[in-house]
Amino acid sequence: MTWSTNQIRQTFLDFFSSKEHVIEPSAPIVIKDDPTLMFTNAGMNQFKSIFVGSSASSAPRIANSQKCLRVSGKHNDLDEVGRDHYHHTMFEMLGNWSFDDYFKSEAIAWAWELLTEVYKLDKDRLYVSVFSGDEDLNLTDDHDARQHWSEFVSQDRILGFGRKENFWEMGDTGPCGPCSEIHYDMRTQLDRDEIDGSTLVNKDHPEVIEIWNLVFMQYELKKSGDLVKLDKKYIDTGMGLERLSRVLQGVDSNYDIDLFRAIISNLENISNQKYSGSDSMQDVAFRVIADHLRAVSFCIADGQLPASNGAGYVIRRVLRRAIRFGYSYLYITQPSIYKLVETLCAQMGYSFNELEANKSLIEKVIEEEEKSFQATLEKGLNRLDQQMDEANNKIIAGDFAFELYDT
Ligand code: SER
Repeated sequence: MTWSTNQIRQTFLDFFSSKEHVIEPSAPIVIKDDPTLMFTNAGMNQFKSIFVGSSASSAPRIANSQKCLRVSGKHNDLDEVGRDHYHHTMFEMLGNWSFDDYFKSEAIAWAWELLTEVYKLDKDRLYVSVFSGDEDLNLTDDHDARQHWSEFVSQDRILGFGRKENFWEMGDTGPCGPCSEIHYDMRTQLDRDEIDGSTLVNKDHPEVIEIWNLVFMQYELKKSGDLVKLDKKYIDTGMGLERLSRVLQGVDSNYDIDLFRAIISNLENISNQKYSGSDSMQDVAFRVIADHLRAVSFCIADGQLPASNGAGYVIRRVLRRAIRFGYSYLYITQPSIYKLVETLCAQMGYSFNELEANKSLIEKVIEEEEKSFQATLEKGLNRLDQQMDEANNKIIAGDFAFELYDT
């Protein structure tokens, strides 16, 4: 069967509903009441206070699909998004949560059941990783997780990694715990015969990818660096919907899943250019616009308009990056990107009512930003040409370059 992204999301929620989880809507992507975060960057953000014991959960088991935004950090530099085929600014994280209810054994058994019996992923292409201990944290190998996994997978597919890969920390402080990731090998049979997939896990291989992270939240990292055991145990899992869709739809790129293909195909019509999935700047531009349009639309739907400071400035930068790529590589010099909101709503509006409800506002805001930034770009590029002529293509003054960048 061919799975649409919407079916994949719904199947996840139905599966956990059958395991007595309460299905909750995503929390807003824009965070208004946490001074440490502007945007939701992980499914667990909204449950932070429950994990550290300062509030109670509404149910012992919850499942959801969380809208997340990551525009900075080691693996999520905005400037990199669109250049490869698997990073995004916004992504959806499918999660199941246990608040002092079930723990490792059920989390592992259900993850395996869902992946192999419901989604019917090839068991032979799956690898799992477990925490192998860390001296600084004074923690030893996660023997329990190994034990539970060994009920389903052979030893050679259970791989141990240290703190960097398999100890999940929200930040420098906060709730944390060992985790167990599930990786999928998408390579061709020929490649798999040549190199064993287990040697490529956690090696940034574009076709051997992490799809699901099961976090066994049981500690809190204090400012002092001390690790304190929490009173209760929690499960926090996060599975990237776009990556799972890529695996289930059998495509090489996250941008080839149904959702992005629909947006890219409309962008082909609008720009009169063709997307071929290569690494050319033109194809990068298609991916940048498809990704950024979704992120910006959801942020506007959740109440964050582009602005000149704070979270609004982040949104403006993301949108301007899309406009700039459109201008330079797809020759889009008139407001056009806003027309893609229609396609986005057709793809995602059913699962996220806030998109439909704010459709015309989103279109209006993006159109206005396009209009003003395209004019700025045109002026700036003219001035740059003029300066380059005057400098005889040698050296351009630093203050002029800064002014262009800054404005
Ligand atoms: N908190 C973990 C993550 O963000 C699992 O949801 O990856």
